[in-house]
Order: sequence, then structure tokens, then C-alpha cells
Amino acid sequence: MFGPRHTVTIEPSGLTVEVPDGERLMQAARDAGFWWPNQCNMECRCAGCFVMVVDGAESLSEMGRAEAEALVNQRGRTALDDPIRLACQLGVYGDATVRKTGVRAGG
Ligand code: FES
Repeated sequence: MFGPRHTVTIEPSGLTVEVPDGERLMQAARDAGFWWPNQCNMECRCAGCFVMVVDGAESLSEMGRAEAEALVNQRGRTALDDPIRLACQLGVYGDATVRKTGVRAGG
């Protein structure tokens, strides 16, 4: 894989994922062998993959309509007031830190 890679730190575990520029966070985590909580296999329906963005929001892709709709459908309108994103839709363009419980290394 060519091009820049970015480091996303996942709190509270402290796991880190190396993400190729523009790749989606959950895809990069899966490629690294991590298990990531979800119920829809990255189809932008369950919102179970959500993360709280702690740092580096400017390094992340803009929220698209499908992501916003899934968040509202699954978590309610106020979900859009919080720094919550769906990891399966989240393009990474720089280092960032997110909060997500339940991510496990190794499968
Ligand atoms: S994996 Fe289901 S919405 Fe992201």
C-alpha cells in the first residue's frame, strides 16, 4: 500500500490502528485483524460501530447523508449534536483519537 498512513488511537483500550490515507476506520481495523462491534457488516444501518471522536475531528471525512440517517434512526436526533461518527463510514486523513469500547485485537 502506498501513500501516507495515519494512526488512530482507540480509547480506553489504547489499541492503535494504522489507516491508509482515506480508508475507512473500521475497514482498516478489520484489515489489521481487529474485531469491531457491529450488527450490519459495514452497511451503514446498525450504528453499532459508532465511535466518539476525542481528538482529530479535522482529520476525518465529512459526514454523508447515509451516515447521518443511520445515526438518527438508531440513536435519535440528538446523536447529531454529539461528536459521534460511524466507524464503517469514517474516512481517515490524519491522526485521530476515538473512544469505543468492545474493540478487540486478534479476531
Ligand atoms: S457497521 Fe453497521 S452502521 Fe457501521
